[in-house]
Amino acid sequence: MSTRSAFVICALAYVVSGVSRTVIAQGLGTPISEADVAAWDISILPDGTGLPAGSGTPQQGAATYATKCAVCHGEAGKGGSAAALVGGAPLTSGIETTKTIANFWPSATTIFDFTRRAMPWPKPRSLTNDEVYALTAYLLSLNKIIGENDVMNAQTLPKVRMPNRDGFIARFPERMP
Ligand code: HEC
Repeated sequence: MSTRSAFVICALAYVVSGVSRTVIAQGLGTPISEADVAAWDISILPDGTGLPAGSGTPQQGAATYATKCAVCHGEAGKGGSAAALVGGAPLTSGIETTKTIANFWPSATTIFDFTRRAMPWPKPRSLTNDEVYALTAYLLSLNKIIGENDVMNAQTLPKVRMPNRDGFIARFPERMP
């Protein structure tokens, strides 16, 4: 970065912090409560940090999947207007291979995180935590990564070993389960 752009960024930061101090000094805005933050603080780490209470089985997930997911992802995750959630060729042909949960995703907790925050596509954040655990269990079971009767919850999900777990260089190895 040039000295000039560094200067511009510092100057901007100074002005912005000055404005926010003025706003606070004038009693504008309201302090953010813990509950307000919690509603947005939904990231889940590979070691399970952030996973909520609740649980679900593949069987329970199958029922929810049929009503809320199959319309786009196809029957039993085989793919439709949206990506297949089952299977996937080995990642031998480099970046050309389609990335899937089974051949690419390194952490099982990402299935929970992504599904909870983004799915179903037209109605994100509408699933209960139990539904998300069950859907996660169902997708893992369809991919034969867990057994058909394995219960997924905050303790069991981070222990699931994804096939491509070692295909990445971990930025925070201490956060890996
Ligand atoms: C209206 C269509 C639609 C419905 C219904 C829907 N999805 Fe999706 N889904 C998508 C689209 C589109 C994407 C790609 C989103 C993106 O890339 O940001 C996606 C992506 C995903 C992915 C990531 C796949 C990958 O390999 O990158 C998962 C997992 C997933 N959906 C799970 C679900 C589950 C579980 C449900 C049911 C609760 C669901 N989806 C319902 C359209 C849908």
